[in-house]
Amino acid sequence: MKIKTICCIGAGYVGGPTMAVVAQKCPNIKVTIVDINASRIAAWNDNDLNKLPVFEPGLDVVVKEARGRNLFFSTDIDKAIDEADMIFISVNTPTKTYGKGKGMAADLKYIELCARQIARVAKQDKIVVEKSTLPVRTASAIKNILENTGNGVRFQILSNPEFLAEGTAVEDLLKPDRVLIGGDNSEEGQKAINALVDVYANWVPNERILTTNVWSSELSKLTANAFLAQRVSSINAMSVICEKTGADINEVSKAIGMDSRIGSKFLKASVGFGGSCFQKDILNLVYIAKTYGLNEVADYWEQVILINDYQKNRFSDNIVSTLYNTVSGKKIAFFGWAFKKNTNDTRESAAIKVADNLLNEQAEIDVYDPKVNTERIYADLDYLNTRSSEQNRKLLKGQSSPYEAAKDSHAIAVLTEWDEFKTYDWQKIYDNMHKPAFVFDGRGILDIKLLEKIGFLCYKIGSGAKV
Ligand code: NAD
Ligand code: UGA
Repeated sequence: MKIKTICCIGAGYVGGPTMAVVAQKCPNIKVTIVDINASRIAAWNDNDLNKLPVFEPGLDVVVKEARGRNLFFSTDIDKAIDEADMIFISVNTPTKTYGKGKGMAADLKYIELCARQIARVAKQDKIVVEKSTLPVRTASAIKNILENTGNGVRFQILSNPEFLAEGTAVEDLLKPDRVLIGGDNSEEGQKAINALVDVYANWVPNERILTTNVWSSELSKLTANAFLAQRVSSINAMSVICEKTGADINEVSKAIGMDSRIGSKFLKASVGFGGSCFQKDILNLVYIAKTYGLNEVADYWEQVILINDYQKNRFSDNIVSTLYNTVSGKKIAFFGWAFKKNTNDTRESAAIKVADNLLNEQAEIDVYDPKVNTERIYADLDYLNTRSSEQNRKLLKGQSSPYEAAKDSHAIAVLTEWDEFKTYDWQKIYDNMHKPAFVFDGRGILDIKLLEKIGFLCYKIGSGAKV
């Protein structure tokens, strides 16, 4: 079976870039990305490519090439479902905030709504692809809904989890380490797998396209994120020992990363991992383990989250204790709010927790982030419900220049590893700060020797160089 039309439900950080690349690489396939969020769709259709709702290096070029040719963004979900041979579900699957599994299980209500809509609209056989990250065995729930509420047409369910990382999404999509496709073992299932393999084969070498059964594919996605996050928590746990002993975490990382069995990636100590997925997916894994009564397994993975919480809290605690045990009324400049560089995404960013802790101590915070706007920052803080939104707006301000953010501050905290932070005129920043002037480098990116020469008192995550 040859795929001629694709519909993707969900025009977010995954659906948008992923399908833009599919459209770019498969000019003969019509790709329509749909969403219930009309303003998001309008932004994807904006002539000004700077206004795309997702900032990713290189994404504007891909969208420019394919949009209007064979790539379309629309709010007409029924029409796109009806036309499509293959439907990707790429909607959000956040942690449940209510009911059974609250705070742990993935909330599958958006997935279920999609399945019901597909069942209602589809008049011909379709292949439905899980692109969202889902708990293992979700495909059977989707199949049940499709088969029991549909119009008698036949559906094949595939699992095709996405492994892109934000900030490098386009690069990851163009050259994936692997594409994973899980499907049914039946003849029909294999046909569906082959149809999706053919789509990817337009640009991904065959040996990088891996096919498995559906459950292995679903579980591999959660496993991959758990392993990646575990490495960050492992190195962050060692960063504390480094600070106590005078060892340097960058040197330790380099030394262990050169062991080919360990490898050098994902060994950067930080103020804690953020992003929409690591925490959510590990909590989901913990919940699944608990559901099967595997409490030791659940506890093992939960520890990855606990170390991450510890890392964020100890960063803010360190700021407070260093600033003579009080930050009340003192201004602290935040350099960075995004959860990592080269993205405008702030979901679960460590900056949110660090700011929350410092605001509880009545600090004043001025934030500068090259890609995050102030409304987003307020939304992140208001969502916590720790203070009223008036208090958040009184205590925290967004600034469009790092020099303005740092002016009259007592300390600078580096929360995101934006490259531009290394290029600033740090002497000028120092001159306009209260003395002693502190820098807390939560990302280990700054040249501490240079800063100390200027007069700063510096703390660098995982390093003996600390105040
Ligand atoms: P997102 O919130 O950016 O986008 C999801 C979109 O789905 C939203 O625009 C929302 O309006 C839309 N939506 C929700 N319900 C809908 C419905 N019934 N009909 C139409 N549209 C609907 O989320 P995301 O970051 O793109 O993540 C999507 C999935 O991909 C999640 O399961 C996530 O775990 C997974 N994932 C994310 C990343 C990442 O880097 N963000 C990477 C790999 C996998
Ligand atoms: C992560 C995975 O890397 C992707 O493969 C996966 O598809 C995605 O989650 C997902 O499922 O959503 P992402 O969260 O976009 O991608 O970004 P990462 O590069 O993994 O970074 C996650 C967090 O860990 C960031 O806050 C980052 O700063 C932090 N990190 C990463 C470290 O602190 N140290 C490191 O060495 C690496």
